[in-house]
Amino acid sequence: MTSHLRLGVNIDHVATIRNARGGRHPNPVRAAVIAAAAGADGITAHLREDRRHISDEDIEQLRREIKIPLNLEMAATDEMLEIALRHRPFAACIVPEKREERTTEGGLDAAGGYNHLARFVRGMGEANIRVSLFIEPDPAQVEAAQRLGAPVIELHTGAYCDALVGPNRQRHLERIKAAAVRAEALGLECHAGHGLSFDTVGPIAAIPTLKELNIGHFLIGEAIFSGLATSIKEMRGLMNEAREETEGDGGR
Ligand code: PXP
Repeated sequence: MTSHLRLGVNIDHVATIRNARGGRHPNPVRAAVIAAAAGADGITAHLREDRRHISDEDIEQLRREIKIPLNLEMAATDEMLEIALRHRPFAACIVPEKREERTTEGGLDAAGGYNHLARFVRGMGEANIRVSLFIEPDPAQVEAAQRLGAPVIELHTGAYCDALVGPNRQRHLERIKAAAVRAEALGLECHAGHGLSFDTVGPIAAIPTLKELNIGHFLIGEAIFSGLATSIKEMRGLMNEAREETEGDGGR
C-alpha cells in the first residue's frame, strides 16, 4: 500500500471560460462535482480581488453543494479574511496577488511579510480553517512559514514546470525536494502546485513527503480534448504511478 497523495483540482478556469461570455455556462460547481466523482480529493478555487474568474456566488454555491473539502485561495486582505471567516472552507491557501499578473507569479514573502501575514494565519487558525502559505521552494521561506504558525505550506512549482527539460529543470526539482525535506523536519505538512501537467507531475508526485498537489489550468485545458473526468483520472494515474515507484524504491 502506498501513501495517498491528495489531488486538489483547481476549477478557476472553468469560470474563466464562463466569464468570457458573461453567462452561466460552463458552471464551475458542475465541474467540481465531476472532479469529485473522477477522484479529486478536494476542490481549489481562487477568489481574486478583481473577480476575474471565480465569483462570490461560486464560493457560496461550492460551500453548499460539494461534499469534498474546499480549499479557498486568497490574498492576505481584510476583505478575503472576512469572506473566509463567513464561509469557513476546510482550508485556505494564502497567495500573493497582483492585479496586473496573469496568474500567481512567485510565492509569498513569508519572511519579509511576517507582520502583515501573522494575523491572517492566526485568524483563520482560530476559526479551524487549515491555513497554508504558498511559497517559493526556499528554506528561508519554509522556516518563516513555520515561525508564522502555519500548519501547511504549498511549494510553487511554476519555475520547475517552465524550465526546459535538462539540468535547469533538475535544479528546480532539487530545490523543491530540499524545501520538502526542510518542511518535514519542521513538522509542516507540505503541498505543491502551479503549472503541473502530465509531463511534469511525475517527479513532483514522487517526492515522498508531499501530501497534496493542486492542479488546475492544465486539467481544464486538457478537458477540452478528452473530457474533465478523463483528464483528472489520467493525472491521478500518473500521480499513483510515481508514488508506487518511489515507495517501491524505499522512498529514495
Ligand atoms: N496552487 C496555487 C497556490 C495557485 O495559486 C494555483 C493557481 O491558481 C495553483 C496551485 C494551480 O496552478 P495551475 O492552474 O497552473 O495548475
